[in-house]
Amino acid sequence: MTVSRSDALVLFGVTGDLAHKMIFPALYAMAKKGTLKVPVIGVASSKWSPARLRERVADSIKRSDGLDDQGALDHLLSLLSYVSGNYNDQGTFTAIKKALGSARRPAHYLAIPPSLFETVIKGLGAANLAEHARVIVEKPFGRDLTSARKLNHVAQTVFPEDSIFRIDHYLGKEAIMNILYFRFANSFLEPIWNRNYVANIQITLSEDFGIGKRGAFYETAGCLRDVIQNHLFQIVALLAMEPPAGRNFGAVHTEKAKVFQAMRPLMPDDLVRGQYVGYRDEADVAESSDVETFCALRLFIDSWRWEGVPWYLRSGKYLAETAAEVLVQLKSPPQRLFADSAPTTGRSNYLRFRISPISAIALAARVKRAGKEFVGDQRELYLVEEQPGAESPYQRLLGDAIAGDGALFTREDAVEAAWAVVDPVLQTHHPASPYRRRSWGPKEADAIIAADGSWHNPRPEKASGS
Ligand code: BG6
Repeated sequence: MTVSRSDALVLFGVTGDLAHKMIFPALYAMAKKGTLKVPVIGVASSKWSPARLRERVADSIKRSDGLDDQGALDHLLSLLSYVSGNYNDQGTFTAIKKALGSARRPAHYLAIPPSLFETVIKGLGAANLAEHARVIVEKPFGRDLTSARKLNHVAQTVFPEDSIFRIDHYLGKEAIMNILYFRFANSFLEPIWNRNYVANIQITLSEDFGIGKRGAFYETAGCLRDVIQNHLFQIVALLAMEPPAGRNFGAVHTEKAKVFQAMRPLMPDDLVRGQYVGYRDEADVAESSDVETFCALRLFIDSWRWEGVPWYLRSGKYLAETAAEVLVQLKSPPQRLFADSAPTTGRSNYLRFRISPISAIALAARVKRAGKEFVGDQRELYLVEEQPGAESPYQRLLGDAIAGDGALFTREDAVEAAWAVVDPVLQTHHPASPYRRRSWGPKEADAIIAADGSWHNPRPEKASGS
């Protein structure tokens, strides 16, 4: 079956933050590459003049990577029009239809607060704007299992599942796509990629900044909903999944969904929640807020491959570094042939995926020191695979959605299964413990991992060990 390309992009929330920070730069990058060929209809409730919107776009480009191709910006602006209107007013959708002109296969991008998804999706359906169309939905997709199910239901009454593109921008990152490739394009990994050789796996996504102006959103989310249930779980799925039956993306989605289905639902003791000191003074944050800005948890996947292997996930705002890393801790050699085979200080026998700020893979190796004695040093076989000019996740995902390629989006069953894992601890959990800004979170988090050692704290720049 050939999939047809969308012939217009309708951007709901065009005056908002996401459009400014991510979507305009992505459209500009597409314009530079010559791949932006469809009209872009911006929609929002603000009564802006077309000139004001154009200024906003130019400002966004200047603030991201800078304006280095005036022709590309002019091209983007020439494709842009604006419809202002309330999403509760069906007249807004009639105006969109008019603005679409002869376009018959629009892609509707909902860069709007989740509370408005349902209204807009229904509005699109009622205006007959869903036929041959696609809908691109930003995360968070729901805020628990019940709301995700409801949202899936609403979306599917208007759009078929293969026309619903649920964004998790982590799936568009080179370093994360490379996990899938690295696992299944190499043969050396598979024999050790299981409970017999892997002791535990840690994933850390740390940021050295706070919630900024996103207080209102963050108060409804918290760290578990904001990045763990989606971004970190997607990384777990790529690391844990079985080989897909084929290259088609349905097969990959199926294997990923099975990982979520095999995850043991979290219980309050599996999780440590933290809150940075000063969070309650941030704008739009409640004085007595217990929302977590840090979360560390221990997870198990009850499958043949992973039974008994703990997965340690951790993320937080205002931590000591901005970085994302996976550390796959392998078991020690079974026999201690050399006195330092299993060193007591430092880490050995691991595989490290650096996801950001740079993309790299490191394999720990002990290497013999010159001399008569069989003693060695801890090194890393270190592979950096930064490619200058690589597409940004939003550029890639937007291009894919317009082309109708759903490989890097998330499927209904996977989203719901992931919510089912975190659902029990969304309401019932221990209170958030305060932590110092620019630390590695509350000390209570150490207890979560104590049985397997300590957290691996990603280093600032290219590191040669942990
Ligand atoms: C977003 C979260 O989805 O991901 C943010 O809402 C978080 O809170 C961001 O900072 C992290 O993404 P990246 O690409 O900067 O690592």
